[in-house]
Amino acid sequence: MASTQPRATITAVERFLPERILSNKDLEKVVDTSDEWIRERTGIAERRILDGEPTSYMATKVAQGLLRRRGCHADDIDLILVATITPDMVLPATACLVQDQIGASKAWAFDLLAACSGFVYALVTGAQFISSGAHKRVMVIGADKMSAITDPHDRSTCILFGDGAGGVLLEAAEDGSGLIDFEMHADGSGRDDLHVRGGGSAYPATHESVDEGLHFIRQEGRTVFKFAVQRMAEVSLSLLQRNELTAQDLDLFVPHQANRRIIDATANRMGLASEQVMTNIEHVANTTAGTVPIALSEALDEGRLKPGNLVQLTAVGGGLTWGSALLRWGNAA
Ligand code: ACO
Repeated sequence: MASTQPRATITAVERFLPERILSNKDLEKVVDTSDEWIRERTGIAERRILDGEPTSYMATKVAQGLLRRRGCHADDIDLILVATITPDMVLPATACLVQDQIGASKAWAFDLLAACSGFVYALVTGAQFISSGAHKRVMVIGADKMSAITDPHDRSTCILFGDGAGGVLLEAAEDGSGLIDFEMHADGSGRDDLHVRGGGSAYPATHESVDEGLHFIRQEGRTVFKFAVQRMAEVSLSLLQRNELTAQDLDLFVPHQANRRIIDATANRMGLASEQVMTNIEHVANTTAGTVPIALSEALDEGRLKPGNLVQLTAVGGGLTWGSALLRWGNAA
């Protein structure tokens, strides 16, 4: 990244989690599973479920929170990016609904689909408009209502996912903070490992497609597990190395929250100490594009993010997609 360009830095962070808690004990009543199995295999104790509202509801709450924290007006926003695999509908984009709901009359808005890597993809994308000087303020939101596409009777997925949203405001840095570098990847040959087949142009919604459950998320759990550990560690170390840094230089590593064992195995491979790693999967579960910004927001509240800290965000998801962003933390509200 050219050093003459201004860096995009995070000036506000916000999260939204629905009120209703779905515990492992609740799931025991629906599928053949146990609290013990779920905790041991995933590290998840509970997840949040959004009733009666779509994804844009959570994304709008996040957008409003970002404006409030930063003390700026909706008309100050130039671009709204929403990463999601659970848009309110196929058309229009959820980002347009957020734009309307917060009254950001000068902003353009679009959705970005990279599943669990969605927020990191969107952060890096949004940062380019700041670095190029095209925009002053970009909102980047990761939001997913996973309960809308999860088969409640599929025990291999219904235990993993939750609903939630998080986001950040990006502006040009004046203090040397911001996005230092990034490394992003995609490999569509892994398309079958994680997918929602129905409802698009390949398998348009029909009575049959719904009967077959094609509108639900399906995965090859063991394949995704191995891929996630390998790629998260690989891309994180590669990004550090090309910036002449090591894992020991990191103040906080914020990984996608898919499974506690994926996070621990990634941290082990990287040689990270547990206090360097942010985890909140126990009470949030996997909210897909929401995990990284929700974790960032919780880390900030817990006092684990200080100006000048070196922070790495890494994610892997359907597509397959994966990537990592390295940033110097500023003074985010
Ligand atoms: N409760 C009880 N038993 C279960 C459950 C459950 N919810 N799910 C599976 N089992 C059983 C299986 O049937 C199997 O039984 P068997 O040995 O008699 O055949 C046994 O438990 C072991 O099954 P595995 O699939 O090998 O279990 P594993 O340890 O791999 O855990 C899991 C499964 C949790 C899905 C894991 O593979 C995983 O987390 N994979 C990553 C998937 C993921 O995170 N996807 C999210 C989106 S992608 C992303 O975010 C990166």
